[in-house]
Amino acid sequence: MLNELLKRPVIPVIVIEDANDAEPLAEALLAGGMDVIEVTCRTAAAEEALTRIKQAFPEMLVGAGTVVTPEQVKMCLDVGVNFGLAPGLNPDTVKTFQEAGTLFIPGVMTPSEIEQGIALDCNMLKFFPAGAAGGVNMLKNISGPYASLGVRFCPTGGVNLDNMNDYLSLPTVSAIGGSWLATKRQIAGKQWDVITRQVQEALAQAAEII
Ligand code: 3PG
Repeated sequence: MLNELLKRPVIPVIVIEDANDAEPLAEALLAGGMDVIEVTCRTAAAEEALTRIKQAFPEMLVGAGTVVTPEQVKMCLDVGVNFGLAPGLNPDTVKTFQEAGTLFIPGVMTPSEIEQGIALDCNMLKFFPAGAAGGVNMLKNISGPYASLGVRFCPTGGVNLDNMNDYLSLPTVSAIGGSWLATKRQIAGKQWDVITRQVQEALAQAAEII
């Protein structure tokens, strides 16, 4: 799964309020060329949305984001998500996903957290909240010492069309994530063509440098 994910430079971070929007949202992403999605466990609709997207679009890499509580960990593994992410690094979560054979990408913001992630055999780490933590310059400096170990980063939080390529140009960054690709408001408003266009824009821009 990690190898599959490493091929995808852009990950849409989704907050979905109504599980009925799951399939049209996934269709809008796929229409734009995006076959990966992170559905955050921040809403009551997350479980059903993850389940429906997994069932309807087996070609999609379906990840769960904001996996924080043991209940959310269990839900994600029961649903059979392809990967999970969290804003922070919880060793129990990492180990439970590893025991299930499912990729988990914990969030880090400091060198000590990066080293903890490496010690737990996490080869991909989420740098969160990227913008507020110092942006591209911070990630460049914080990730540089660990580049030789092969660990790769996915910055999220404040990443957008204007700065995504600055992050992607760092050798330690394999992907960026962002909610701008399909905002809560756009999903609620069923603006599927807008979402498709945003995805196309982001993928075209990523293609300029990778
Ligand atoms: C995340 O969980 O990764 C972030 O909330 C996404 O951040 P953004 O809304 O700034 O893109």
